[in-house]
Amino acid sequence: MADADINYGLAGVVTDDTAVSKVMPETNSLTYRGYAVQDLATQCRFEETAYLIWNGELPTKAQLSDFNAAEKAQRGLTNDLLAVMRKFPKGAHPMATLRTAVSFLGLEDNEIDDHATDQLYERSISMYAKIPQIVATDFRLRNGKEPIAPDNSLGFSENFFHMCFGEVPPAETVKCFDTSMTLYAEHSFNASTFTARVIASSLSGIYSAVTGAIGSLKGPLHGGANEAVMYMLKEVGTADNAKDWMLDALATKKKIMGFGHRVYRSGDSRVPTMTSAYKDMVDIIGTDEAKMYWEMSKTLDETMVAEKGIYPNLDFPAGPAYYLMGFEIPMFTPIFVMSRITGWTAHIMEQLGDNKLIRPLSNYTGPAQRDVVAIDER
Ligand code: COA
Repeated sequence: MADADINYGLAGVVTDDTAVSKVMPETNSLTYRGYAVQDLATQCRFEETAYLIWNGELPTKAQLSDFNAAEKAQRGLTNDLLAVMRKFPKGAHPMATLRTAVSFLGLEDNEIDDHATDQLYERSISMYAKIPQIVATDFRLRNGKEPIAPDNSLGFSENFFHMCFGEVPPAETVKCFDTSMTLYAEHSFNASTFTARVIASSLSGIYSAVTGAIGSLKGPLHGGANEAVMYMLKEVGTADNAKDWMLDALATKKKIMGFGHRVYRSGDSRVPTMTSAYKDMVDIIGTDEAKMYWEMSKTLDETMVAEKGIYPNLDFPAGPAYYLMGFEIPMFTPIFVMSRITGWTAHIMEQLGDNKLIRPLSNYTGPAQRDVVAIDER
């Protein structure tokens, strides 16, 4: 088979239909169920977007109220899971502990082989309700603090801050966080969503599919980039150093985290909205350090675009925005999971609604067929 006939990395390959979201590289834009993601991020709360992703339409007030009640009813972790989490090695990455905790949710669920859409939907809401508490609990335990129970008087984003820090920040900060949740929620056949669909296609079960998706998202070429961006900003050190740092990094052919995208080649419609939320966080925090990171980010962006014509992706503004909200860097990708659980599970339901085992072909490059020689004669 000629190289030209092989789609390395599945680049450019369309493998199925989807009605969940549409990525339009020609306009660098993204819609969820037909709505522009930047409109959803600015005009709706994340809960409305979650409802939309699963149900195909934005909710009425009554539908949203029922949906939020269903989420709140599913909050809370069992004592067994909390006991297991207390035993997690303190040095383990929070994406690894989250992967294990979600797998444990599967152990606790007797209906794991049920692939009916209503059963899958119930489990999707359950994971959407429980994952924020897993992330917050893991953060507190690794810092020697007792977990904080969810507060059902609080919405999704407020409750997460409450479970992490024991308090809810000003509404402007919550809005920046909520915006990031909407922007991260769904992105068609990205690596982790495709992983989820591949696993679901073997009828392995929704928890296996989500556990696998978490493993895929963890990598720095995918979701892990939001953490890598913040480590990069720390390495750059000062805003004055940003241009030289970038020129040196490009000269040594370093991959710059938070830049580039497999599908978008000249920008990403989620970036301006998240950059504006990042700027809001800089203004809210108002410290010299916050302003310095903002100036540094601007210089890195301008230098990369001028030198290579490669644009920032969503992780570039999201990483420092989360940092300014007070989250530890290794929590950034688990926070991404809190949002992307909506997209993953919508795709799992779509896959199982009309399932076909996903099984591509490969071009074999090993030895030609040969005879086995008995061990004494080798
Ligand atoms: N830094 C430096 N160069 C980059 C780059 C980056 N972030 N992203 C792409 N390039 C360069 C490649 O080195 C390559 O150059 P070459 O043709 O001289 O070899 C060219 O642009 C094409 O890149 P390629 O690796 O083929 O793109 P891809 O579609 O395979 O990769 C990513 C897409 C996202 C994996 C890649 O851009 C990347 O690693 N980005 C950093 C990680 C990141 O931010 N991930 C989050 C994605 S949302």
